[in-house]
Amino acid sequence: MVLSFRDKIILAPMVRVGTLPMRLLALDYGADIVYCEELVDIKMLQCRRVVNEVLQTVDYIAPTERVIFQTCEREKDQVVFQMGTADPERALAVAKLIENDVAAIDINMGCPKEYSTKGGMGAALLSNPEKIEKILKTLVNGISKPVTCKIRILPTLKETVDLVKIIERTGVAAIAVHGRKKEERQQHPVHCDFIKAIAEAVSIPVIANGGSQELIREFHDIEAFRSVTAASAVMIARAAMWNPSVFRREGLLPLEDVMRDYIRHAVIYNNHYTNTKYCLCQMMRDQLESPLGRKLHGTQSTLDICEVFEMTSFYESCQLSQEARKVSIHVNVQETVETENDNEENHDLIQMPVRFERKDYLPQITPKMFLLEWCRKETLPQPVYHTVQRSLDKFFRSVVTVNEKKYCSTLWDKSKKLAEQAAAIVCLRTLGLPEGKLGEEESNLVRKRKRVITEESVNMSGQQGGEQVKKRLHDNENVDD
Ligand code: FNR
Repeated sequence: MVLSFRDKIILAPMVRVGTLPMRLLALDYGADIVYCEELVDIKMLQCRRVVNEVLQTVDYIAPTERVIFQTCEREKDQVVFQMGTADPERALAVAKLIENDVAAIDINMGCPKEYSTKGGMGAALLSNPEKIEKILKTLVNGISKPVTCKIRILPTLKETVDLVKIIERTGVAAIAVHGRKKEERQQHPVHCDFIKAIAEAVSIPVIANGGSQELIREFHDIEAFRSVTAASAVMIARAAMWNPSVFRREGLLPLEDVMRDYIRHAVIYNNHYTNTKYCLCQMMRDQLESPLGRKLHGTQSTLDICEVFEMTSFYESCQLSQEARKVSIHVNVQETVETENDNEENHDLIQMPVRFERKDYLPQITPKMFLLEWCRKETLPQPVYHTVQRSLDKFFRSVVTVNEKKYCSTLWDKSKKLAEQAAAIVCLRTLGLPEGKLGEEESNLVRKRKRVITEESVNMSGQQGGEQVKKRLHDNENVDD
């Protein structure tokens, strides 16, 4: 199905706001199309595409393991991928990488921020029509999905209409017009007359944008903005960021209900808590000093956020179902693992399906450290890790030998370090020892480790002492990590 931009109400691209939970919430409330936040071509080209079977998402993951773009089946026919670029070939490479996971590709030509314009991207493109033509034509000819672009208006109407006509000739499916000049800020009035003149000058759909400040508060305002601009569609940024239920035909919902709906998506898709918190703070903007706002301010994890909104049982049930899905996926993966291990002597190998999840452990403490300390205490030889990488997906699995017994996780991990930690967990759990998980703070080993670190910090004064503490931690990291 080819995405059409006529008669549509659209969630605008917004950095940090336009991530998967917000896009899904906008769709729930009635948005027809959702744009993702702008993602820069160079960053995208470093990403690998991973199907996340537990979350049922497609993730584009940077070398740092950060998820840069996450999408899912539900939005596949409605999500537009917005790119920051100044280079036709790089733009095409990204578009080809992503086109089967999204409904259309957009090029951002409106961002006035220096980080964008100094690389020739965003609003810098507006003064380079040849570059605009090259980028858009390369994309239109090179991919099978619709291509759009989002611009700001130029100093005069004539210049703006001339540019829009050049853009129309490239074959784009629609053009979004933010009715402000690049020097104008969000609080300046939007130039509806410019958008109207553009809409009347071209035959491709024009998407009107810029009405949040003065014109759009709730659903029925959207049609008024469309009508005054004579546009085919309306794109909403801030009004949707402040209250995403602006897309509801039935009218706005109370903010706390909207925030809970948002948190549900954030929990289901394991959204990073800092991003969830940022979006919730945008929604609460003038109520951040209220009791709820203060509580939100103090949160440091998704679980904390759920506690503030009395959604702990929802959080726990999501965690459980994710764990259950991990196990069922593991059952399928296990067949591959067993085939790969057919030639290994596995009879003495103690195995369980575990993974090391950093967030579940105390800072500076890892299962490997625990295992090492336990071996020292028991005057056993240090644990020995033997790690293999499989050819199928380059994942790792590690076997740790402790006291002549071998332990390993049945799950393969994306890094050697994670695989070793998982093997250490299997060993610790088999031996019934603490492993440094949150909630185990009172165990003897954790107390001992904390004491050692604190005593060293107190005993050593000045730069040299500090360096020694760091060295000790570093040594532990090297041995234990
Ligand atoms: C934006 N805007 C924006 N535009 C864009 O093309 N790509 C982007 O990534 C962003 N990021 C972004 C983040 C945030 C927090 C805001 C508030 C805005 C601009 C946005 O899409 C829109 O053009 C303007 O906000 C004007 O529309 P409204 O807010 O009046 O509906």
